[in-house]
Amino acid sequence: LDNGLARTPPMGFNNWNTTQCTATFNESMIKSIAEEFVSKGLKDAGYQYVNIDDCWAKTSRNAQGDLDPDPARFPNGIKALADYVHSKGLKFGIYTSAGTHTCNKAGFPGGLDHEQQDANRFASWGVDYLKYDNCNNQGVDAQTRYKKMRDALAATGRPFVYSITEWGQNQPWLWAQPVGNLWRTTGDISDSYTKMVSIFTKNLPLAQYAKPGAWNDPDMLEVGNGGMTPAEYRSHFSLWSIMAAPLLIGSDLRKVSAENYATLVNKDVIAVDQDPLGVQGKQISAAGNKYVISKPLSNGDYAVALFNNNSSAQTISTTAAAIGIGSASSYTLKDLWSKSTRSTTGTISVSVPAHETVVYRVAKGVRTAPSAGTHQVSDLSWD
Ligand code: DGJ
Repeated sequence: LDNGLARTPPMGFNNWNTTQCTATFNESMIKSIAEEFVSKGLKDAGYQYVNIDDCWAKTSRNAQGDLDPDPARFPNGIKALADYVHSKGLKFGIYTSAGTHTCNKAGFPGGLDHEQQDANRFASWGVDYLKYDNCNNQGVDAQTRYKKMRDALAATGRPFVYSITEWGQNQPWLWAQPVGNLWRTTGDISDSYTKMVSIFTKNLPLAQYAKPGAWNDPDMLEVGNGGMTPAEYRSHFSLWSIMAAPLLIGSDLRKVSAENYATLVNKDVIAVDQDPLGVQGKQISAAGNKYVISKPLSNGDYAVALFNNNSSAQTISTTAAAIGIGSASSYTLKDLWSKSTRSTTGTISVSVPAHETVVYRVAKGVRTAPSAGTHQVSDLSWD
């Protein structure tokens, strides 16, 4: 959607994957997340949106037909919460469904046929991002429903990142570029390696449809929720980044281990996701469940992800020619997880542990690693 927003994939937080509709989801939790963004370096790493999901509302509209928040979860209302998030230099997102009700069986009201009233309400609260779900849609055509809310949001005059959450059911990659800033390509993720990989394999072939302002969305991150190993979470984060996916943290940051936290703030990998060229990485090969994915970057470098979807270590190999970087007499490979660098005349080959992903930033020519004390290990350019 050409609204000037999400020129790189949105980065932030959404509570759904960790809380669903449990009582943990409340004002105090969301405020803590905003505080963690600032105090633990997430804001510095680029995370910006603090978003709330289903179950924030009252089960019925008020006398004016407006949505109100559940007073038990949000005793000071949504505007006060959005103001708090803004006071931290962050942005605030909300959720509703393009249907009569949201997905939760409690029956929270949805936006269908209330598009302008609800968009106005969100704008009056200072909301910056809307996730628009697909439950209880009454069989109304998806394009009709999602365009109507796009137009209602635009009519408020307030900029909104607009997240089309129709789960890939109506092939949104074929029509949603002028409708939303991101569109879900699959059903819901869960905190399982198998599920994460199955979503990855569905999102990967859709590379040609992504561009600045309009991204394939393979769903929010599970990193830190506990159902995968740290290596599997590194793969999850690497694969989402090479696919230029939105990076919406879905874990309770107050409980994430140091190792998984380090995954979420790896600035070199984030820079692959956030590269301004805005190209989603493409599959180069996948024989033997050994994936090679290549993504061109704005300074002429390429990122390449080597993902081992096997239960034993495997050597994964490709070449500079195969990934598309063009010819040079030598190349420098920077491993974006270990931070080591080495040079090659063209072969890119490495032993990758089970379920792990090696991500290289590949540059033409010889570059030296930054010397200790003068550079951050996360320097992108090595020089
Ligand atoms: C379905 C969506 O795909 C999820 O991300 C989440 O928003 C739930 N609905 C909430 O009910």
